Amino acid sequence: MKKTITLLPGDGIGPEVTTEAIRVLDKVAELFGHSFVYQSAAIGGIAIDQYENPLPDETLSLCRESDAILLGAVGGPKWDANPSHLRPEKGLLRIRKELELFSNLRPVSIYNSLIAESTIKEDIVRGIDLMIVRELTGGLYFGEPSERLDINGEEGAVDTLTYSRSEIERIIRMAFQLAEVRRKKIISVDKANVLESSKLWRQIANEIAEEFPHIELEHMLVDNAAMQLIKHPKQFDVLVTENLFGDILSDEASMISGSLGLLPSASLSSNGPGIYEPIHGSAPDIAGKGLANPLAAIASVAMMLKYAFGLEDEADSVMSAINRALDTGIRTADLVYGNQEYVSTTEMTDVVLQHL
Ligand code: NAI
Ligand code: MG
Repeated sequence: MKKTITLLPGDGIGPEVTTEAIRVLDKVAELFGHSFVYQSAAIGGIAIDQYENPLPDETLSLCRESDAILLGAVGGPKWDANPSHLRPEKGLLRIRKELELFSNLRPVSIYNSLIAESTIKEDIVRGIDLMIVRELTGGLYFGEPSERLDINGEEGAVDTLTYSRSEIERIIRMAFQLAEVRRKKIISVDKANVLESSKLWRQIANEIAEEFPHIELEHMLVDNAAMQLIKHPKQFDVLVTENLFGDILSDEASMISGSLGLLPSASLSSNGPGIYEPIHGSAPDIAGKGLANPLAAIASVAMMLKYAFGLEDEADSVMSAINRALDTGIRTADLVYGNQEYVSTTEMTDVVLQHL
């Protein structure tokens, strides 16, 4: 199989982890007889430095022409004081919108050898398997107005949480379709006791549930969900929620797995290429030190193989290689406590490659 992949390494640890993910893709290509052609483009801070634009037109057109996109992360203190149109995150938000990647899948599970090391009790995390479905192109991150304003002569600001019926319908329907091939249970997370947008969300979820009578739908308020994720994560199969809620809950859920450096994601549209990226950010505190855990990016490549190319065996091989690499006991710095030894970003990948 021949596929073209656009690489958007971005900032901070983004380039470090995507480099490792590509090593794994190359090995998959070699072992299974595929050909992956890469084209690199700029996004985020590096694109601001080079083109004064966090998402240059050329990047967008390369993405549109490719079969899949592998992204690292964007952002960093260098650009924090920039005006909002010159912020790295603007590039990320815009590419999601331009490619209509409304559905962000964030699977949460735990690798065998990390169960005993979890900061949460073993019984609580063993066998965990949930899928966070985060709405990605609407909600609080996109609503207008979003600006500074004058409130009775005082400095103020406003952000807006907007959803249309069609935006809610398509993400809820995606959650039901995923639940169909999983354990047939959806927990829809909202704040319907306060927010009007959540009341509409809940109403539409109930309507769509009637099309799927064999799937159980439960509603949960987001503050309770934050608590339930740690108390009893196994009650979740598919968790579907608004953009900001999903962003926060998935960082929290990463600690069920053991580290933010472990969780991958796939951002999908109803047609056209998806973006595959770790859920973590650019981690400026550890950038350039070889400390980043590459496994979230490597697992994102597994999601690409599965969702973009339909290569399930290849995807399973990558996930199993990660599992067996961790079984050897090696850990990157994010997974060790106290003065335990750890390996570098590249060394971690070396061991994954040995087991592929
Ligand atoms: P972050 O996710 O970059 O880092 C949070 C903490 O987790 C840090 O202590 C970091 O060292 C650690 N961490 C993250 N990924 C890791 C990995 N692979 N291995 C080991 N440790 C890892 O979030 P933070 O610090 O809040 O944001 C830093 C920058 O990243 C900001 O500019 C932010 O806007 C941006 N960001 C970008 C995202 C993206 O590109 N998708 C997502 C989240 C944040
Ligand atoms: Mg996030």
